[in-house]
Amino acid sequence: MSSNYLYTDLSAYYDLMCADINYHAQSYGVRRLHQLFGNDGNAHQDLACGTGPHVRYFIDFGYQSSGLDINPPMLAQAKTRCPEAQFTLGDMCDFQVDEPLDLITCFLYSIHYSGAIEKLKQCIASAHRALKPGGMFCFNSVDKNKIDNNLFEQHTVDQGGSLFTFRSAWHYPGEGGKQSLKLSIKKTTGGVTQSWEDVHPMVASGFEELTKILEPFFDVHILEHDYERIIPWDKTSGNAIFVCVKA
Ligand SMILES: C[S@@+](CC[C@H](N)C(=O)[O-])C[C@H]1O[C@@H](n2cnc3c(N)ncnc32)[C@H](O)[C@@H]1O
Repeated sequence: MSSNYLYTDLSAYYDLMCADINYHAQSYGVRRLHQLFGNDGNAHQDLACGTGPHVRYFIDFGYQSSGLDINPPMLAQAKTRCPEAQFTLGDMCDFQVDEPLDLITCFLYSIHYSGAIEKLKQCIASAHRALKPGGMFCFNSVDKNKIDNNLFEQHTVDQGGSLFTFRSAWHYPGEGGKQSLKLSIKKTTGGVTQSWEDVHPMVASGFEELTKILEPFFDVHILEHDYERIIPWDKTSGNAIFVCVKA
């Protein structure tokens, strides 16, 4: 059963959950990839932009940045963070733009929110349609065959008199095209603990399968999941950055 507190009722805690993420390094790394692989343009859209941290950095780098997300509470925070940017409420599996783009990004494995292989194909086709020739689509992905269901990440943050514990883990049942992201949030205030469990249904794909979907649309470069160094994927890591250039 799916539940989605984090991007709705609990969206005010999203940035707290992501406090350890180096958004500057991620944005700067993708900007560098765009300089190397992309065109010279600066029209950018971030898919599944969340509260807009990447859009903020891309604007500060000189891009004309915009964002798209399916959950209004996330977009409300993005608008506060980037008042000069345009944000669209929509589904990344079926989006259109008024003016073609030079760069489309999708961070934090959010492309997996396309949910099913057919939808993932629609997302990729939408991104291809929205780009100018020479434009670049960049996202990160996890290979379903490398998911270890026993691994999780957890951290605790003290904020405003409450102690928050955030925990996240991938789960792949071992076959098929679906995986899930399991999230748990615990908030303890004055000895009273509240807890929420989210299960987000996501599309599962191996990198070989994903590359086959991308190649009819793009020149595909797969890189190690390191935003600070540009290293070709070693064909064994389970996380990678995909750089897809429209011919
Ligand atoms: C893990 S968050 C990532 C947010 C942001 N990119 C970041 O790096 O912090 C995933 C985001 O995807 C959005 N999302 C989920 N499904 C989506 C869809 N089909 N189309 C657009 N956005 C979607 C959620 O609302 C949420 O803001």
